[in-house]
Amino acid sequence: MLDIVILAAGKGTRMKSDLAKVLHPIGSRSMLSHVVNTARELGDYPIHIITGYGEAQVKASLNQDESLQNVESRNLNYIQQIKQLGTGHAVQQALPALNNDSITLILYGDVPLINLTTLNKLVKRVNSKSLGLLTVTLKNPSGYGRIVRDIRGSVTSIVEQKDAAPEQLAIQEINTGIMAVNSAHLQSWLPTLSNGNAQGEYYLTDIIAMAVANDVAINTEQPEVEWEVMGINNRKQQAELERIYQANQADQQMANGVTLLDPTRFDCRGNLVCGGDVVIDVNCIFEGNNTVGANVTIGPNCIIKNTSIGDNSEIKANTVLEDTMIGNNCIIGPFARLRPGTTLAANAKIGNFVETKNAIIGEDSKVNHLSYVGDAILGKYVNIGAGTITCNYDGVNKHQTTIEDNVFVGSNTALVAPVRLGKGSTVGAGSTINKNVENETLAVTRSPQKTMKDWQRPKKQQ
Ligand code: UD1
Ligand code: CA
Repeated sequence: MLDIVILAAGKGTRMKSDLAKVLHPIGSRSMLSHVVNTARELGDYPIHIITGYGEAQVKASLNQDESLQNVESRNLNYIQQIKQLGTGHAVQQALPALNNDSITLILYGDVPLINLTTLNKLVKRVNSKSLGLLTVTLKNPSGYGRIVRDIRGSVTSIVEQKDAAPEQLAIQEINTGIMAVNSAHLQSWLPTLSNGNAQGEYYLTDIIAMAVANDVAINTEQPEVEWEVMGINNRKQQAELERIYQANQADQQMANGVTLLDPTRFDCRGNLVCGGDVVIDVNCIFEGNNTVGANVTIGPNCIIKNTSIGDNSEIKANTVLEDTMIGNNCIIGPFARLRPGTTLAANAKIGNFVETKNAIIGEDSKVNHLSYVGDAILGKYVNIGAGTITCNYDGVNKHQTTIEDNVFVGSNTALVAPVRLGKGSTVGAGSTINKNVENETLAVTRSPQKTMKDWQRPKKQQ
């Protein structure tokens, strides 16, 4: 049985932000969301979140968090720490909520990338006569609590940087802060903490010496990689961890067979599932939930959000897709913008400088140049000429345009909705169509061309 306590009460002064530190994002999800998700993966155990600064914001953020949509995950126990008197004081707030026979795992809302495997290893190091402490050896240990060991190598205490003697400052093994302790031990030790130290705080780290005094062994465990235990205190550290997070995502994609032309210029802020032999060029950003079929090529500088792309489709450079569904064998872009509610059936083509919104484009249909297609349904084999606009908005309401199979719309046409172009009909270039067009007919509203033979081009005055 586990009780998981996540410390998340601090403001994070060095972020220089009104937003609570733990709500700042990594991969577009709050740091706290990462920690809660990892904590949930440990099993269906109580998760106690110690809140303080921005408590309402913190709760609201987790309640709206899409990665925590299922009910169990939302079953979080918020505990308020009104004044932030130190890490020991923070954990003390959780004591009444802890199960007596459980192990308490202490995590930090600002250490977002901690890994499940490491936590499982750490928890296994705890029994009635020992606790588990996650430590790491750093080239530059400055700022961290140092792990003090005796001549036999056993841990005897943790000393904070500000309280450390000069020879202790040379110790490179540091406290990550993450530990697993018998809840019963915490119940007896935490109420006896004092704040007689350099920072006047109740240090959680003081329980290490208490454990040793009570013949409880300190079992240390190390993370597989250093970035797991990297905490975020300022924007620079946030940016560094974001790069690490994105490098990991890129590695995962490549391990699954995706070609990334430059893994350092790939950003996935959400979930991306790719089929076989997908190629992604540089500077693409994937947001939300995206699925990409097999043999898809995505050109440089594309922004793709909440979209599914069918097999063998090609998304050319500088295309923006948002809440769209792209069928198989489609070609989109370069410089296309497909807005929410756009659905493309197989073999459809959307070319450069085309904007679509709430539009269903049928099989083998083409909108190749400089068009706006909104609130429209297009059948199969439709060809929309360059510069065609669906005039879907009358200033108050939106209206529908329906274009049936095999329609050909000439260039620079305005389709004033609501309007229907019947099967096989043709619209002459430059027309403004505000009445339905019957099947297999030609509609044209262009004024007749005049020829003026005696007309003179104006000349420049001397
Ligand atoms: C702490 C450890 C230090 C360790 C370091 C690792 C102590 C005394 N020190 O130092 O040994 O090397 O973490 O990063 O534990 N918090 C609360 N309520 C409080 C105080 C803190 O919720 O009253 C939260 C903070 O929001 C933060 C976390 O606990 O998320 C750590 O607190 P912080 O003050 O940053 O501790 P450090 O000085 O970094
Ligand atoms: Ca810290």
